[in-house]
Amino acid sequence: MSLTATGSSAPVAAVLCGLAGWVPSRVVTNEDLARRLDTDDAWIRTRTGIRQRYVVEPGQATSDLAVEAGRRALASAGRDRVDAVVVATTTADHTCPATAPAVAARLGLAGVAAFDVNAVCTGFVYGLASAAGLIAAGVADRVLLIGADTYSTIVDPLDRADAIIFGDGAGAVVLRAGHPDEPGAVGHFDLGSDGAHEDLIMVAAGGSRQRSLPGEPSRRDRHFAMRGKEVYRHAVTRMAESARATLSRAGWKIDDVDHFVPHQANLRILHSVADDLGLPRERCVTHVESVGNTGAASIPLALADAAAGRTIGPGDRLLLTAFGGGLTWGSCLLTWPAFPEFPAFPAPARPAAQPTRPAQPARP
Ligand code: UT7
Repeated sequence: MSLTATGSSAPVAAVLCGLAGWVPSRVVTNEDLARRLDTDDAWIRTRTGIRQRYVVEPGQATSDLAVEAGRRALASAGRDRVDAVVVATTTADHTCPATAPAVAARLGLAGVAAFDVNAVCTGFVYGLASAAGLIAAGVADRVLLIGADTYSTIVDPLDRADAIIFGDGAGAVVLRAGHPDEPGAVGHFDLGSDGAHEDLIMVAAGGSRQRSLPGEPSRRDRHFAMRGKEVYRHAVTRMAESARATLSRAGWKIDDVDHFVPHQANLRILHSVADDLGLPRERCVTHVESVGNTGAASIPLALADAAAGRTIGPGDRLLLTAFGGGLTWGSCLLTWPAFPEFPAFPAPARPAAQPTRPAQPARP
């Protein structure tokens, strides 16, 4: 179906009506990393709170995880059709084209609008704003938004500083046109960026800058590079500022927030932001311990995890806040809807024929 704006003047919001998370089946524990890198479980847990992460098998790509999460989100919404598919990712299957059209086709949605959003770890919040815009503009009634990343494909496995942090995964939501006051309506938003610091998180090679030069890129330039300490500082400041800006736009006080759902960068960052906001740490939804930092997938995965575990329930008020390369940051508010049916998370990823693999992550 091609999309055309209807020009309706009624107040329209994007309302959450489907949700699912998915991770690949191969688990990598801190002990596994310590066997091949100069690191140890205690260092990783103390600095990041991470105990394990999930990574794709050779040959698996971001779209494979996105399709699994997307299919389950559609089922949870009781739908097999949407008008648009948006994939938030930094680890697209290819430099060109975008991953979303292939994901849409594999979900039986060939013909709908489909595009990627790259705002690194803020991608899901930017994607929510994009989906809300499509719905508010009257160009879509229903949008499937998938946050999916496979950082294991871009992080240097020999780089102990980055290899310990990231994991692969996908989380997806379905948004439908609804009223701004009904449960599940997303907004208010705050989005921001500062490209003056693009070098803090970067894969230097593979894009037009490097490809316009002669010669092959170095190993370092081909892989993800992050200046961890500086990123940490920016993350805490920007996430706290963005959260405050969003709350103030909506007229919410910090005490109105039942659950703070931050991008799962690492536990110390999340707790620092909560402390800065004066929010009790118990209200901070985290599952970074069991999946690591899954990039654009981390917020929808955390939501799916918390919803399946009934940590979040209908009527609860949520503040979502993310930060990522670019630099980018963003926040969004929503009141949790009642889902008629919610798929258990973690869902079984591997057929019973291969029972020796570790199961999906335990809920944190
Ligand atoms: O979506 C945004 C995602 N980004 C992040 O969440 C990253 C934010 N940054 C961080 O979380 C932290 O900066 C890290 C966890 C990445 C690193 O922690 P840190 O306390 O900033 O450590 P550091 O980089 O200052 O390194 C301290 C020491 C160094 O050794 P020396 O030079 O003091 O001898 C590192 O070489 O720790 C060493 N180190 C490690 N040691 C054991 C770095 N990585 C490791 C490791 N195991 N995996």
